[in-house]
Amino acid sequence: MRNNPIVPYILIMALGIALIFFLSLDGVEKQKEAAEGADGATTETADAEDGAALVQTCIGCHGQDLKGGMGPQIAGLDADRIVDVLENGIEGTPMTPGMKTGDEAKKIAEYISSLE
Ligand code: HEC
Repeated sequence: MRNNPIVPYILIMALGIALIFFLSLDGVEKQKEAAEGADGATTETADAEDGAALVQTCIGCHGQDLKGGMGPQIAGLDADRIVDVLENGIEGTPMTPGMKTGDEAKKIAEYISSLE
């Protein structure tokens, strides 16, 4: 193997692989930094999962405490009714179908119906 002419090529290839490896490690490190840098945003998204945060979009029409504004009072309403309205809407009103769906709709509904 000592005088095998292919050895230099193998060495160069090994160097290349090592280089790719270290460069990608560097990339992972940078990604982590970026993720940490965006921490505020990550936390906000997590908070938005909460009913209290999600209903911020309803407040404009239903009032600060959801007791009525341009839209009717919805605080304390039956959760099933709220989910129904969010998913299916009320025709001819600003409550368009699919305003919220699935888990998000349920969380909002539970939160709103738990209010006074
Ligand atoms: C653009 C204004 C607007 C926004 C934003 C809005 N609503 Fe409404 N909503 C209305 C209006 C107006 C009505 C009354 C519709 C009608 O005449 O029946 C209504 C009706 C409802 C009803 C039916 C009330 C009842 O007594 O049956 C529910 C439930 C409801 N909204 C929930 C929500 C929730 C939850 C959100 C936030 C995700 C939301 N709305 C956001 C305007 C809005």
